[in-house]
Amino acid sequence: MVNQKKLQKWVVLGTGGTIAGTAASPSDLTAYQAGQLGVAVLLDAVPGLREVLQDDPLVCEQVAQLDSKDMDPATWQALALRCAHWLAQPDVGGVVITHGTDTLEETAWWLHKVLDTTKPVVLTCAMRPATAALPDGPQNLRDALTVVREPKARGVLVVCAGHIHSARHVQKVHPFRLDAFGSGEAGPCGQVVSGQVRWQAPLDGPQVHPQAGQLLACAAADWPWVEVLHSHAGADPRKVSLLAAAGVRGLVVAGTGNGTVHQLLLAAVLQAQAQGVAVRLSTRCSEGPLVGTPAALQMTEPGLNPFKARISLMLDLMA
Ligand code: SIN
Repeated sequence: MVNQKKLQKWVVLGTGGTIAGTAASPSDLTAYQAGQLGVAVLLDAVPGLREVLQDDPLVCEQVAQLDSKDMDPATWQALALRCAHWLAQPDVGGVVITHGTDTLEETAWWLHKVLDTTKPVVLTCAMRPATAALPDGPQNLRDALTVVREPKARGVLVVCAGHIHSARHVQKVHPFRLDAFGSGEAGPCGQVVSGQVRWQAPLDGPQVHPQAGQLLACAAADWPWVEVLHSHAGADPRKVSLLAAAGVRGLVVAGTGNGTVHQLLLAAVLQAQAQGVAVRLSTRCSEGPLVGTPAALQMTEPGLNPFKARISLMLDLMA
C-alpha cells in the first residue's frame, strides 16, 4: 500500500492593512489606501505558494477590510470567533491573519488572551502597499505560511521581515522601515531564512484569560471602557476627572521611566481609583519591565506595553 501523506488544511483570514493597500503609482510607498485588496488576491501574489503548501488545502476568508488604526472591539470579536471556529476543526493545522502594522501588536495580544488553542495563529503584514514596485507583503505572507506549518509553532506569533515575534514582546518600533517590529530585550523568537524556520527562543503556551469566554459572548459595544493615560511634563489631571465622570471603567497609566507618575496626575488617578475606577501602571519606555513598586498603583503584567495592558485590564473587568 502506498503511504499517503495526511493532508492538513490551513486558513488565511484577511483584515486589511497596508499588505492589502493600493496606491496610484508603483513608486508610491506612503500615499496609499490601506485595506483595498481581498485576501484571495494577496495569496495569488505569493511566490511559490504551491511549494510552501505541499498540496495541503488552503481556505481564505475576509473577516474585515480596514486600516488597522481603526481597529475596533467588534472586529476583534469577529476575528477571534472566526479563529476559534477554524481552530476547532480537527483537520485545520493553524491560521494566518493578514493585518495592518499599526495595531498589530494589540490584536496579537488580544488573540493570545482569548484563544484557547495549542495550534498556531500567525499574524503578518507589510510596510509597502501591494501595488509597490517591490512589495514586502508577498514574502511576509509566504513566511507566515511557512511558520504556521512548522511542527513546533504554537500560540500567537507575528511574522514580519523574516523575524518571528511573540505576542507578548512584539511592538511596532519604526514608522516606515520594512523591518518595523521589535521584541525589545527578549528579541525575536525565531527567523525565517530561505524558507526555513530557525527558532531562537522557547514559545509561549496558551495563556487564555479566565474571562475570555465572557468577553467574547458579550456585545462588543458593552465591553468595559478602558483608556490609556500618559504621564508627561505638564500632565493635566483634569483628563482623569473628565474620563471618570464620563464613565470610564479602567485606566492604564503609562508612567515615565520606571513607572513614575506626575504628582498632579497621580493624585487624580488615586482619587479615581478610590471612586471605583480600576487602575494599572505601565511605562512609556519601549524596553524592559518595571522593577520594584514604583507608584501606589497596581502594576501590569511584567513587560506589557500600555496598549496590551489595556486589553488585559478590559478582560479583568469582565470578572
Ligand atoms: C494599517 O495599520 O492598517 C496601515 C499601516 C500598515 O499596515 O503598515
